[in-house]
Amino acid sequence: MKKIDRPTFVKWAGGKKQLIEQFKQFFPQEAERYFEPFVGGGAVAFYVIQKNHLKEIYLSDINEELINCYEVIRGNVEELIDKLKQHRNNHNKEYYYAIRELTPEILSKVERASIFIYLNKTCFNGLYRVNSKGKFNVPMGSYKNPSIFHEDDLRELSKILKNVKILKMHFEKVSEYAKKGDFIYFDPPYYPLQKGKSFTSYTKNNFSEKDQIRLAEVFRELDKKGCKVMLSNSDTKFIKELYQGYNIHIVKAKRMINCDATKRGAINEVVVTNY
Ligand SMILES: C[S@@+](CC[C@H](N)C(=O)[O-])C[C@H]1O[C@@H](n2cnc3c(N)ncnc32)[C@H](O)[C@@H]1O
Repeated sequence: MKKIDRPTFVKWAGGKKQLIEQFKQFFPQEAERYFEPFVGGGAVAFYVIQKNHLKEIYLSDINEELINCYEVIRGNVEELIDKLKQHRNNHNKEYYYAIRELTPEILSKVERASIFIYLNKTCFNGLYRVNSKGKFNVPMGSYKNPSIFHEDDLRELSKILKNVKILKMHFEKVSEYAKKGDFIYFDPPYYPLQKGKSFTSYTKNNFSEKDQIRLAEVFRELDKKGCKVMLSNSDTKFIKELYQGYNIHIVKAKRMINCDATKRGAINEVVVTNY
């Protein structure tokens, strides 16, 4: 299979593409089944799948539109490419806002995926943010020639996903599926460095402190079952206390956490493992 250099089909807040080099050392070699319950743009998943001989792979996320994209890329990639070509040919401000107004729930799966990718690649900063009613509300970005998709990459991705189980589910459900020896990588929305400063919202329900606590419980349940568990999060006292007793490694990430571009630099993040 051809290796793809642009492994993500969406720009996704918290994407891990830049951290893969540092993450490599933490991935266990022996696991046969892989779970990624916060798959997002899939940068880590696509790397792990291409590098390992896994027998079963489960990718999941709570974002219904995103999961629909994975299913459509796997099952209807040519139709999707045709639709994306139409969006690329028609792209302008008026078209963007007309597409943003559409109600995804009443469209076909392929149309739904195509507008999700189109909006993601042309909106401001690739943000995914919805209002309290769940409606996507990000304004158009100011890109001159946004690259909306790469058809060969989508085709490769479609092949990679052929034997993958794709599920729309809450992260805690992973404990119903995982068993001894499985590898689970958690990449949740990060606990904010400053209280109240979470910069994005992937769903209409934000990821709260209570969710972080529940996630740490799920991490412990999986550990007790004999799974190999890895998690990334912010380097904060709260997170380090939640995972006390496990291995806590520090990695360096470049993040857009400061509005002033000159003050953007590398910040520490943590990787927790139970092995
Ligand atoms: C930090 S992102 C993952 C980034 C991903 N690793 C990448 O490289 O693109 C977090 C993801 O968690 C998902 N999410 C938020 N709350 C969730 C929940 N309760 N259960 C499962 N997924 C959730 C979001 O939709 C988002 O895609």
